Amino acid sequence: MSFPSFRSRRWRRTEALRRLSQEVELSARQLIAPLFVKEGIRDPVPISSLPGQLQHTLSSLVQEVGELVEVGVGAVILFGIPARKDPVGSGAWDDEGVVQSALRALRSEFGDRVVLVADLCLCEYTDHGHCGVLADGPETVDNDRTLELYGRIAVSQARAGADVIAPSGVMDGQVAAIRRALDAAGFPHTAILSYAAKFASSFYGPFRDAAESAPRFGDRRSYQLAPPNLRAALRRVEEEVAEGADAVMVKPALPYLDVLRAVRERCAVPVAAYCVSGEYAMVHAAAQRGWLDLPSAMLEVLLAIRRAGADWILTYFAKDAARLLR
Ligand code: PBG
Repeated sequence: MSFPSFRSRRWRRTEALRRLSQEVELSARQLIAPLFVKEGIRDPVPISSLPGQLQHTLSSLVQEVGELVEVGVGAVILFGIPARKDPVGSGAWDDEGVVQSALRALRSEFGDRVVLVADLCLCEYTDHGHCGVLADGPETVDNDRTLELYGRIAVSQARAGADVIAPSGVMDGQVAAIRRALDAAGFPHTAILSYAAKFASSFYGPFRDAAESAPRFGDRRSYQLAPPNLRAALRRVEEEVAEGADAVMVKPALPYLDVLRAVRERCAVPVAAYCVSGEYAMVHAAAQRGWLDLPSAMLEVLLAIRRAGADWILTYFAKDAARLLR
């Protein structure tokens, strides 16, 4: 059957027909809001490259999570900015550290009404800004020595109340090391959402301002994935699922929708996509100039990520999008 018998526009004639024929849905419960909490500040600090986002104090964090829960956002992921940094990032596994304190405050305020995800990395805690301990030579970061530290961080975050640990440092063997450490410490129920396909991207710029985590020298290309390489990403995802990842992530989202689709088709575990700081900043910058309509561009971006196969979307748009979806 061809035109004029076939008319694709029949399903688009009215709002009701369009609603009926919509193939993918976006809902607040699938969104995960990234939040920054900083040690030693009295008031929240706005992040200029991420309009509407703040470096939180413990109390502004609790208030923000209250608003997110209210609009139905499914989860939050916490990034900590410690008062002091050192070469090994020891603040990351301090039971009294900034993320651990935040996890305890949120758990006592909200119980199990919101899923608490802890980002696990060293870049915010090391004085050099790399995601692990330094190696000699071109490797930059010593993969295997870093794994032991990741295990300590995971246990400390689980003890403070994290439901999910999300390692973002892209060390090989990180999922196995974290699973082993969690199980040995009596946290077999804590889940791992691994940043399995995390690319060395230019789109992390605003985040590094927000998290104060830009590397002091060099870059992250010896550990994060190479942007042209889909097959290498799939191999790494397969590995981390085999090591016990309970869910995997593709990051960034929009420039890597093909990777997201391919991961979705190969994996049975939940797949998350991180719509990163640069993607958010890009939409906001254009909207500020009057070049894009913010609400519709935001929803279109998030729906595209769902259509490509994401179960969950980590996004700075979480609260605004959830409000629009009510
Ligand atoms: C740190 C980390 C980064 C992001 C999340 N965790 C930055 C990086 O790898 O430099 C980026 C998130 C964003 O840009 O929104 N390991």
